[in-house]
Amino acid sequence: MALRWRNDLRESDITPEPVFLDRRQVVAGAAAGMALTAATGRPAWAEALEPNTWEEITTYNNYYEFGTDKGDPARYAHMLTTSPWTVKIDGMVERPGDYAFEDIMKKMTVEERIYRLRCVERWAMVVPWSGFELADLLDLAGVRSSARYVAFQTAYRPEEMPGVKFPVVEWPYVEGLRLDEAMHPLTIMATGLYGKDMPSQNGAPLRVVVPWKYGYKSIKSVVRITLTDSQPPTTWNKYSAREYGFYSNVNPNVDHPRWSQKYETRVGGGLFAKKERTRMFNGYEEEVAHLYEGMDLEKYH
Ligand code: MTE
Repeated sequence: MALRWRNDLRESDITPEPVFLDRRQVVAGAAAGMALTAATGRPAWAEALEPNTWEEITTYNNYYEFGTDKGDPARYAHMLTTSPWTVKIDGMVERPGDYAFEDIMKKMTVEERIYRLRCVERWAMVVPWSGFELADLLDLAGVRSSARYVAFQTAYRPEEMPGVKFPVVEWPYVEGLRLDEAMHPLTIMATGLYGKDMPSQNGAPLRVVVPWKYGYKSIKSVVRITLTDSQPPTTWNKYSAREYGFYSNVNPNVDHPRWSQKYETRVGGGLFAKKERTRMFNGYEEEVAHLYEGMDLEKYH
């Protein structure tokens, strides 16, 4: 499997943003061993994955626990106490328990992943996350052979989350993945971006990132992970099953009932940002299409 979005940067290698960008391109290019484009000296895919700015990634957010305006999370998410933090891992695991964030971090290998993020609302970004593979965390807890799905839950703290007094969706925010999706090496628990700790508005201290699915699957500020043998309920599917399926794979050929999913607009492009074609599985088709072989992607949208 070609994991072209991967490189070997560790947290200890992280440097300030401008330097970091240069080195990332060098490291990423070397790791991929790919031909560099003559014009820029960078591999073609790195060019295509030029990340959005820190400013864009941290001020244009969806985190409804803090309000539904794109600027609300940046305004209010600092109210969330993110340290200490524990993640309860339970259900079909060998070692259920409350795992302290710091203890998790001591055991995980943190690396940088530059991923596309495609929101169901048709905006897109490229984000230089840092984090570790969800599979490694699940291995820490020891997944039992009976488990088929992974359920996730965000913190629910009315006193720290001004948005939860509005029943926009059912709280707490919950999400889920099939076990093979959760174990896929592209699926990460992100703990930072641009080499810094995760900003609260992006889901501090740790959130799921599944780059081939619509952004709402990438649940923020996770407090509980439960291994189950049945498909878990998910927030947007409960809100409207017809509009938001359990799978929610990015798919330009399956429209949302109220809008086309064929195009997207990159955040930060300004007033005249041009639409770009949305790619199957958000550009990660080569890596993930096999997970859905033989499935009717319209039915299992
Ligand atoms: N997680 C929680 N708990 N609450 C939310 O409202 N919004 C989702 C997802 N995770 C959301 C969430 C949606 S719709 C998107 S597009 C992404 O977070 C946005 O992530 P970002 O703000 O880091 O870009």
